[in-house]
Amino acid sequence: MLQVGQSLARRMALPGASVEPIGLELTGFCEQFVSDYHQAKEFHLFTCLLRSRHSVLITPIVGLHYEHSKLTQMSESLTVAWRLTTEGLVGGCELCAGTLADYVALLQAHLLKEDRFYGVVAHLLDDSDQAQLGAAFAQLELATATAGGHERYVRWAVDQATRA
Ligand SMILES: [Fe+2]
Repeated sequence: MLQVGQSLARRMALPGASVEPIGLELTGFCEQFVSDYHQAKEFHLFTCLLRSRHSVLITPIVGLHYEHSKLTQMSESLTVAWRLTTEGLVGGCELCAGTLADYVALLQAHLLKEDRFYGVVAHLLDDSDQAQLGAAFAQLELATATAGGHERYVRWAVDQATRA
């Protein structure tokens, strides 16, 4: 998804760029998969880690949660920019290109940060934590699958990855 986003941002920044259908899928992926599904799962994980009284984790969790909020705001902005651009907004392609490039850069840095964080905290979750998280994730997956959300975008992302 990061490569797709970077590539689309570069194309939309070119003179004479036009709206591409993949942008609509990409904005949906950002909102429904990244924000509504992935970040919602991590919210359960953050809560579980904090409930375990590992106070040293507060600062990194607050930082990651802040980035989730920022990413959600940016994806909402991207969706609005995309809609306006499809309706003929002058300068819309440049607006989408800039917003998408910023979103991809923040998501990329965020994912690297999370990889390091999860590598450190994975051992802190005991069997009870794992069970609680499993139940919460299952409930979330059911809710988002019913809404037609994450599974569709997982297939879309896999399809994009195989084309790359
Ligand atoms: Fe995250």
